[in-house]
This record gives sequence, structure tokens and C-alpha cells, in this order.
Amino acid sequence: MPRNRLYDCFNAFLERHMPEGLFPRALIILVAPVVLLQTIMTGLIFDRHFENVSKLLARSFARDVSLLVQLYEESGGGPAATQRILELANGTLGLGLTIGRGELPEPLPDPLFSRADTRLTRELTVHMGREFWIDTGKLPEFVDVRVKVADGVVFHFLTRGERTFATSTGFLLLLMLLSSAFLLAIAIVFLRNQIRPITDLASAAQRFGTGRDVGVFKPRGAREVKAAGEAFLDMRDRIARQVEQRTTMLAGVSHDLRTILTRFRLELAVLGDGPKVQLLKEDVDEMQRMLEAYLAFAKGDGGEAAQEADLGTLVGNAVRATGRGGGNVAVAVPEGLAVRVIPNAFGRLLVNLIGNAVRYANTVSVTASVADHMLTLTVDDDGPGIPAAKRADAFRPFVRLDNARNLDETGTGLGLAIALDIARAHGGDIRLEDSPKGGLRAVVQIPV
Ligand SMILES: Nc1ncnc2c1ncn2[C@@H]1O[C@H](COP(=O)(O)OP(=O)(O)OP(=O)(O)O)[C@@H](O)[C@H]1O
Ligand SMILES: [Mg+2]
Repeated sequence: MPRNRLYDCFNAFLERHMPEGLFPRALIILVAPVVLLQTIMTGLIFDRHFENVSKLLARSFARDVSLLVQLYEESGGGPAATQRILELANGTLGLGLTIGRGELPEPLPDPLFSRADTRLTRELTVHMGREFWIDTGKLPEFVDVRVKVADGVVFHFLTRGERTFATSTGFLLLLMLLSSAFLLAIAIVFLRNQIRPITDLASAAQRFGTGRDVGVFKPRGAREVKAAGEAFLDMRDRIARQVEQRTTMLAGVSHDLRTILTRFRLELAVLGDGPKVQLLKEDVDEMQRMLEAYLAFAKGDGGEAAQEADLGTLVGNAVRATGRGGGNVAVAVPEGLAVRVIPNAFGRLLVNLIGNAVRYANTVSVTASVADHMLTLTVDDDGPGIPAAKRADAFRPFVRLDNARNLDETGTGLGLAIALDIARAHGGDIRLEDSPKGGLRAVVQIPV
């Protein structure tokens, strides 16, 4: 397999098996080498260093014991010599020797997994060459060794564990674990702080992308992350300026045209009645409606303040404004449900959604409910609906879908864009879904 393919495969493998988030990934990248290094170091230290130290300690203990036994035998076992040997053993050598008579006890069963026992037994066997009895059960405090010397004399060593065995291993292990945990804790805190600016940037970009307010976003963190944040803010300002220029232009053009249109209407009124004049008047009305829509879009919701309003009344007004007088529109809104909204803007939202339903379908139903401080209002219709793939497009200003173009030519394609703007100005959102009635369902959700 060529090198590149191998590398790609490795990358794909990592991509598949690494956790998704940046934080766990960074943590793995940081922690994995530390753990590996610690493991290798621990293994090496225990295997080489402690094994060696323990072996040397055990050997020196065995040699000391062997030396004392030899001295005793060569001296012939007289009281003066015995006294001297006891002094040597308990003073200089610190072996905890008592000398008595008797037999060696029955050998103890081999303790499981005791390296100290195995090692001591081996060294004593090699370096002393005499019958002995050993009990390492009291390690690390004491080790109990008895040696049979001559004519029933038994040397009884009750020696401190540290004299025969490297005892600090457990402590060292604990120290290593504790220091690793400490380092890890610092790493986690540090990493979290490094990653937060990135997640902040991501969520700011996402909010901006869906047309919401970016909120307070301040670039911070490492130099590169900060630069990305600043670039994002620049981009946002540029886009905002562009949009503003466009809407200002649209507002200007609409406004100027409206003035001329008013003059036009006056001139038409002077012309009197007649079928041709009637048609002209209808066209002028149509143009007027379109210009009003452009202006409404360009102006946004114009700084109107939110206030309590009765939802039933708002919906009723909107249904009347769409010109059906409630005929094919079934309204199911709880009686006396007060909501805090920007009244004119919210009214326009309702008119746009119900107006669409009435225009593109035959029967329409509007329902509303409040749960967990969230108003959910749905507008269902039995019309052609909008295919899921085109729903996002339908919200874009000036976009009219093909079915609407064929149906009538009066729309501007601004209705949904304006409605979405208004919902978002309320901190809410609009979703388009399939309606159980067969057509489109628009779901408005607004915190109240
Ligand atoms: N209830 C619906 N059923 C089917 N299609 C719809 C419905 N509502 C909207 N659409 C489609 O989405 C497009 C965009 O709707 P939008 O309200 O923004 O514009 P419009 O209705 O065409 O014009 P305007 O509302 O400005 O007069 C419409 O042209 C239409 O194709
Ligand atoms: Mg519309």
C-alpha cells in the first residue's frame, strides 16, 4: 500500500474512533503521552531499580546472617563469644538476634505472590547453605528468620523489614498517581479555558447564520482563536452594512414610487369611471400593496414596544384582515389567553402566515397553546404544501416558489421573511412542517 493511502487510512481510523468534541480530543492528545510515559517509567523503575535494590538488600542480609553463624561455630559457642556475637548482631548490624535452643518450627506454606519471600529464601539458601525457617508474613514491619546452628542451638532473627526489602515502592506509586492526577486536573482546567473561546465563536457564528442577534461576543483566547473571532466580527459588520445599504435603497425607492403612485391615483379619480379606468385602478391598488410590503420589510418592526395583548383578538383581527371573514379558517385559541408581544408586528406575522394559508389552500386551522412559558401557534392548511428541501428557501426575501408564481402574480415573496424577522425579534422562531391536513403547517414559537 502506498504511503499516502496508509496515512489516509490511519487518519480515517482516528477520525472514526476519536470522540467528536475538541475538548475530549485535546485531552486525549495531552493525556495519552503522559500516561504512556508514566507507565513505561514506572515499569522500568520497578523492574530495574527496585528489583536491584531489593536483591542487594536480601543478599546482604543473607551474608550477615551467614557470617554470624560462622563466627559462632568457629568460636566454639562459649559464653563470651556468644555475648560478643549478640552485641555485633544487635548493635552494629541491627539484626534483632536472640539465641535459644530447640527445633525449627514446621515450614510455612509458600505465600502467594510475595517476591520478598521468594527472594529472601533464595538468597539465604545460596549464601548460607544451612537449614532455616522463614516467615515474611509480618512484612513490611518484620521478617522472622530462624537458623539451626549446632547441637540444638537456634539463631532467631527478628529483623526490621527495611533491612531486607525495599519498602518505599508503595509510597512511590502513590506519589506518582497523585502527581499525575494533579497534573491532569490542571490540564483539564487549562484546556477548558482554551476551548471555551472556540465554542463561543462557533455559537456566535451559528446565531448570526440563522439571523439572530450575536449577543455579547468578545474575541479572546489564544492568538489564532482571537484572530478568527475578530475576522468573524469584521465579516458580520460588513454583511450588516451591506444589508443596511440594500434595505435603505429599497425603502427609498418604495417611498419615492409611493408618492408618484398617490398622484397617479388622484389623476385616475379625475378621469371618472369606466371599465378601463377600473382595471387601471386595480393595478394601482396592487402596486400600492406591493410597495407597502417592501416598505414594511425595509423598516423592520420600527421600535414598537411589547405589551400584553389578547391572543384570540389578535388572531381574529388577522383572519379578518386576510379577507375571509373567518369562513374557511377555524380558530382554536384558548379564551382570554394574554401574551406579551409587539402588537402591530405580531399582527403582521399572523396576517402573513394566515394569508399564505388562505391564498394557497382551501381550509385553514389556527391553534395556540402555552406551555413552559412558550407560546406555540400553528397554522395548518390543506394546500399543496412546500417540499421539505424548499422550506428554507421560502423564508428568503423575494423568493416565491414555482407553485405560487403560477397561482397568482401579486405576491412579493416577502411574507415569510417578514414573519420570521418578527418571530426572531420576539426571541422565537418559525418552522415549516407537513400538516396533518395535507398541506403546510407553520409553527410559531415565542417565549412569553
Ligand atoms: N401555505 C402555503 N402553502 C404552499 N406554499 C406556500 C405557503 N406559504 C408560502 N408558500 C410558498 O412560499 C413562498 C414564499 O412565501 P411568502 O409568504 O414569503 O411570499 P408570497 O406569499 O409569495 O408573497 P407575499 O406574502 O409577499 O405576498 C410562496 O411564494 C409560496 O410558494
Ligand atoms: Mg405570503
